[in-house]
Amino acid sequence: MSKLFSSYKLKNMELKNRIVMPPMCMYSADNDGNPKDWHLIHYTTRAVGGTGLIILEATGVEPRGRISENDLGIWKDEQIDGLKRIVDACKVHGAKVGVQLGHAGRKSEAFSEPSIAPSPIAYSDDYRMPLEMTKEDIKTVVAAFKEAARRADLAGFDTIELHAAHGYLISEFLSPLTNHRTDEYGGEDKNRVRFLKEVLQAVKSVWPVEKPIIVRVSCDDFAEGGNHDVDMANMLNMVKEEGIDLVNVSAGGVVNVVPKVYPGYMITYAETIKNVTGLPVMAGGLITSPALAEEIVHNNRADLVFLGRELLRNPYWPLGAAKELREDYIWPKQYQRAK
Ligand SMILES: Cc1cc2nc3c(=O)[nH]c(=O)nc-3n(C[C@H](O)[C@H](O)[C@H](O)COP(=O)(O)O)c2cc1C
Repeated sequence: MSKLFSSYKLKNMELKNRIVMPPMCMYSADNDGNPKDWHLIHYTTRAVGGTGLIILEATGVEPRGRISENDLGIWKDEQIDGLKRIVDACKVHGAKVGVQLGHAGRKSEAFSEPSIAPSPIAYSDDYRMPLEMTKEDIKTVVAAFKEAARRADLAGFDTIELHAAHGYLISEFLSPLTNHRTDEYGGEDKNRVRFLKEVLQAVKSVWPVEKPIIVRVSCDDFAEGGNHDVDMANMLNMVKEEGIDLVNVSAGGVVNVVPKVYPGYMITYAETIKNVTGLPVMAGGLITSPALAEEIVHNNRADLVFLGRELLRNPYWPLGAAKELREDYIWPKQYQRAK
């Protein structure tokens, strides 16, 4: 029996298989952060296609925390209903649904407000110089994550993922390349992880205990003086008791470099995080073949596998993968004749 198609339980969230659609920005919301029909169709199609866990794209906890003016938003109660429609539709088809709570920090290209960051360092010449966050700003953003988590629960999400990867705000605090602060939020590891810790504490105070919290991190900055997988594992160890249930392992995006990539290029990072922290992990990166996805979970290199671009190309990938792995997977009854 294939492990990829075995169920997996994390707190009260029981997934029917180990296949995850990771968050992928669609840049297709209206200017006020509300989803459009595109989102409903896009996500529900992956649920019909058999994906076990669908994590909605980076969704801004503040308007200035959006990556673009057309990101999804979760900074006000009026945004709950649109998200709930997507959650409800996906659940009808047996998927569990999460949302990535994000703040873009210095990489925000939503121009209605200035961008903010731990330190005033621009990402590149093409980006704005961010304002250095004051202690008051830190409190405001922590509170915004908390309110976003409360709304995510009301929208019916099974899990939330904190976006602490790819050089967005939380990730900017974690990396010594982007955090040059001299107060208690900068300097050594235990200080750079403090912002994530405060976000986790705030989120946990409103998020139901029976629902899991995922944190996505970048395990390699691909630059001298930046974080590597062991640094990230050590920082996660400092805050995991605050309520991390699973780590979504990613890499890069902190500084402007293009790493060399190949299928499974982040799997060894996932193994490090799993071994050093003892937390379950989700891993991926250029995975397209069912055999490789099966190998990753079967050999316990990760608990879940994400497929990003492959699920954009083929929303029915799980159905084909089941056939290839000789699993008698239940297809949607409307598609049975194509099985
Ligand atoms: C169109 C697109 C949008 C993305 N948006 C996000 C995002 O909102 N949040 C995030 O953490 N990663 C984002 N990513 C990264 C993916 O989640 C994933 O980690 C990456 O594509 C590598 O996996 P893959 O090789 O299977 O595509 C995005 C990737 C793509 C292709």
